[in-house]
Amino acid sequence: MSTQTPAHSLSPLEARMEHGALAEKVARWDQLYHTEDAPEVDDATYDAAKRRLLEIEAAFPDLAAGSPTARVGAAPAEGFGKVRHAVPMLSLDNAFEDGDVREFVGRIRRFLALAPDAPIALVAEPKIDGLSISLRYEDGRFVQGATRGDGTEGEDVTANLLTLSQLPRLIEGAPRVLEVRGEVYMTKADFMALNQRQEAAGDKVFANPRNAAAGSLRQLDHRITATRPLSLFTYALGDASEPIADGHWQFLERLKSWGFPTNPLATRCDDVEAVLAFYHQIGEQRAGLPYDIDGVVYKVDRHDWQQRLGFVSRSPRWAIAHKFPAEQARTHLKAIHVSVGRTGVLTPWAELEPVNVGGVVVGQATLHNEDDIARKDIRAGDTVIIQRAGDVIPQVVGPAPDAPRGPAAFSMVAALTPLGGDHPVCPVCGSHAERIEGEVAWRCTGGLVCPAQATERLFHFASRNAFDIEGLGEKNIAFLFHIGRVTKPADIFRLGEIEAAIPDEKKALWRSPKKDKLAQSIPRDMLDFHTQRLGPLPLIAFEGWKDKSVDNLLKAIEARRAIPLERFIFALGIRQVGEATAKRLARHYGSFGAWRQAMMDAIPRENEAYHDLVSIEDIGPSVAADILSFFEEEHNRIALGDLAGQLTIQDAAKPVSTGSPVAGKAVVFTGELTAMTRAEAKARAESLGAKVVGSVSKKTDYVVAGPGAGSKLAEAQKLEIAVLSEEEWLALIGG
Ligand code: IVH
Repeated sequence: MSTQTPAHSLSPLEARMEHGALAEKVARWDQLYHTEDAPEVDDATYDAAKRRLLEIEAAFPDLAAGSPTARVGAAPAEGFGKVRHAVPMLSLDNAFEDGDVREFVGRIRRFLALAPDAPIALVAEPKIDGLSISLRYEDGRFVQGATRGDGTEGEDVTANLLTLSQLPRLIEGAPRVLEVRGEVYMTKADFMALNQRQEAAGDKVFANPRNAAAGSLRQLDHRITATRPLSLFTYALGDASEPIADGHWQFLERLKSWGFPTNPLATRCDDVEAVLAFYHQIGEQRAGLPYDIDGVVYKVDRHDWQQRLGFVSRSPRWAIAHKFPAEQARTHLKAIHVSVGRTGVLTPWAELEPVNVGGVVVGQATLHNEDDIARKDIRAGDTVIIQRAGDVIPQVVGPAPDAPRGPAAFSMVAALTPLGGDHPVCPVCGSHAERIEGEVAWRCTGGLVCPAQATERLFHFASRNAFDIEGLGEKNIAFLFHIGRVTKPADIFRLGEIEAAIPDEKKALWRSPKKDKLAQSIPRDMLDFHTQRLGPLPLIAFEGWKDKSVDNLLKAIEARRAIPLERFIFALGIRQVGEATAKRLARHYGSFGAWRQAMMDAIPRENEAYHDLVSIEDIGPSVAADILSFFEEEHNRIALGDLAGQLTIQDAAKPVSTGSPVAGKAVVFTGELTAMTRAEAKARAESLGAKVVGSVSKKTDYVVAGPGAGSKLAEAQKLEIAVLSEEEWLALIGG
């Protein structure tokens, strides 16, 4: 850049002209930066322009009004619109062994009360390793395409999907509303060619076809998507204004007749042995297929059975994914370390000589626990067999046969006792470590003082099935925790405020190309010294952070300020409260306020609030004890209040079928049922909006008692609760 006149030497007219031209450029760059994949200028040019604007504004303050420098961050990225799925997009349960598949079919048989020899036809389809999408047609016209997102809400990628030549735009003879689901993927050949082009152009290369497909579809500019070779298979139904078929096989036929691409390998099988034969045959063909698959999906063919089977948590009871076996490799186990989890569990893990396992480089693997290591006799120094399957953490299978062995057996006591120490301690915080009677796990007793536990909890809080905050992965959490910016969940929602309060001039300082950034691992005392004198540093002061990454993170956080109650409860990381339990709690109590109050009321135990809690399906005394001990801790109650103040916690969805006379009612089933199995009766009641509870209390509305009913029936009579026979119940819910 040519030498510039110092800003204070400019005449007012010169200043106005230079400032005006530059401000226009910067505004355009800001816009491009946020909406295009490829910004027009490099960071240094952008930074220099912004610095010059600030200089001019310092000399001529009236020019600052409306300038791009006045904006905190830049204009919000346009981003994708959100699409709420009319029918949730679920995932599939996994099977790994043939036995799991037989078990799956057995469960269906029991649930539907089918005779042991009644045929259960299944459709088997390759499980495509791509990303799932939903395609909505109205009056036969393609109107909207969306990604899966969190299953409830995805991103509108209509324009991007229109670049796929395989996507039917208009279909004839379709119902008024038709939502077809499927997988967008990239063939192996297209993936390799794309990577070659990317490399030649100096652009980033993709790790595998799946990432390439995802990265290509999720482009804000669909013109970029158009240059990427994406393919499509369709395989499921979402919303539909009328029934499409009697069974899945017939449904696939209809899809084909409408012009949708379906997988030619899909096969209708008469029984479980036939699907297993299909699985083993596809396994042999796998490497030669033009696209990546990671298993085979089995679906109950009959739609009426699918309907009756319904869903558990996030997956249908009528389908399962049979995964291919984990890919294995041999490598050297360099050392065994111990890490600390969210609840203080100390888990041994293996540091490995990095090795490629089925396309992914693996340098670490979990070792589960002390007993597992002893059983497999794994030692540091061994040559080991490791394996990985899908997204799960790689595991050490055991020492490789016929290889020299490491010198000494592993012992947790030895690994946790420091040199010269006399008892095992947590490797992170130094608190006492103990192996609890009757458990395999060792635990750190440090609780909140242990930074590893605190960061793991934060990580869980932000993770995919909890708050799902993009950009708050392990690395960034560890960093934000280290600099003291985020030490508890509520701090996450204060990050934006802190950044916004830092004067722009102070931020501008760190944009200078000459200014060295601070290492993320800068010692805490140095940081504290700085912060006490000069206030908080902007995140861009640290290595690896740029305006764009800070901006993206803050936006991702803002997007999660409103959160469904069930996700909120799951995010708290209470022991034994997984997704399914969190959902049950949310449904049962309805709102955050009601749940918190009820838990506080239940603390004394043996009162009505407590009985109400343990009457919830799958919540027994042990889970209840974990929930209540969470509420007993004052620091948890404070953290909860703090968090609730930052958020909008959305009430749990009201039961769908409010029209049913049993919606919102608490029902207990006891004794024998004849028309359907207990499992189906429960699922059916729940689908009508009833709450199925395990024990009778004053809050129970109906007790459905079959032959052989005992103490629950007696209790109902004592409390004068309506008792129905199975027939009466069926009549009530309309058969
Ligand atoms: S059926 C309600 N069929 O696997 C069931 N899914 O692990 C809907 N997938 O999210 C899914 N190939 O992205 C189905 N032939 C296939 C599939 C398939 C790949 C993916 C899909 C789904 C994931 C579940």
